[in-house]
Amino acid sequence: MIRDHDSRLAAKEEVSPGIWHLTFECPEIASAALPGNFVLIKPARGSAPLLRRPLGVLDADAAKGTIEVLFRVVGQGTDLIAGGDVGQVFSVRGPVGGNFKDFRHGRVWAVAGTLGIAPLLFLRKKIGGFEKLFLGVGNASWKGFADWVQVRAPEMVLYSDDGSIGRRGFSIAGLEGEDLSGVSLVCCGPNPMMKALYNQYGTSCDDIQVSLEKRMGCGYGGCYGCVVDTTTGRRRICIDGPVFQAREVKWDELHL
Ligand SMILES: Cc1cc2nc3c(=O)[nH]c(=O)nc-3n(C[C@H](O)[C@H](O)[C@H](O)COP(=O)(O)OP(=O)(O)OC[C@H]3O[C@@H](n4cnc5c(N)ncnc54)[C@H](O)[C@@H]3O)c2cc1C
Ligand code: FES
Repeated sequence: MIRDHDSRLAAKEEVSPGIWHLTFECPEIASAALPGNFVLIKPARGSAPLLRRPLGVLDADAAKGTIEVLFRVVGQGTDLIAGGDVGQVFSVRGPVGGNFKDFRHGRVWAVAGTLGIAPLLFLRKKIGGFEKLFLGVGNASWKGFADWVQVRAPEMVLYSDDGSIGRRGFSIAGLEGEDLSGVSLVCCGPNPMMKALYNQYGTSCDDIQVSLEKRMGCGYGGCYGCVVDTTTGRRRICIDGPVFQAREVKWDELHL
């Protein structure tokens, strides 16, 4: 059940400049969260930001009662969250949304764009590793982040747009020439990346699960601020998603 929880910031680590790994004490969410779920966070005190900011669950430890998030500071909301002190109380709404599930095949491959790796690392932990994992970043300024991911997912193959670290190209280049029959693909990153993946591999892979991004309002289905057109009608990313079968998404109508 989606509820707001007062959660103490238990630990914070700057993974690389502007990228933060935070741990919150939140036993209720920790015991319920599944890979693909997300939380909506804002400081418990003060009015800013007006809307909570959605962040994927990176990990959840029911025994410790903690959840972890991994995010990049891009604006006011993420800056406020990253600027919190250990011990500060935040209001954390969740767990929100559905999860990666019902894999058609036993072989699961993952494709991530930068911070889209967060929910995939949670999934990786649950299923004991990916057969293949491709991560895409912009350039060598992401090295600290990529190293941090590699420690947690040694199978990760890195791509960068300019080739300054890892292989040159986008992460979906990792799928080129591969036989995807018998493979379930999970994907999280910028919507254009997932659209490109579906356009290229939608016919050769019959199970592509994507986690969509859109600005969020309420996060519990009430405001219809996160609607996306699908083959089964207009659906809300917050509660009907964020994970969808790629073939259900009307990609040409998705605001990228
Ligand atoms: C389900 C879901 C899970 C997410 N998980 C993560 C995560 O694990 N780690 C992470 O770093 N980010 C994640 N995001 C994106 C994150 O929510 C946004 O970066 C954040 O809300 C930006 O807030 P801000 O106030 O800092 O920036 P703003 O000032 O609101 O915006 C700054 C820039 O970020 C863009 N932006 C804002 N909100 C979104 C959004 N929801 N999706 C895409 N672009 C946005 C804006 O267009 C603008 O260019 C997730 C988004 C969704 C919808
Ligand atoms: S964010 Fe309000 S309905 Fe999805």
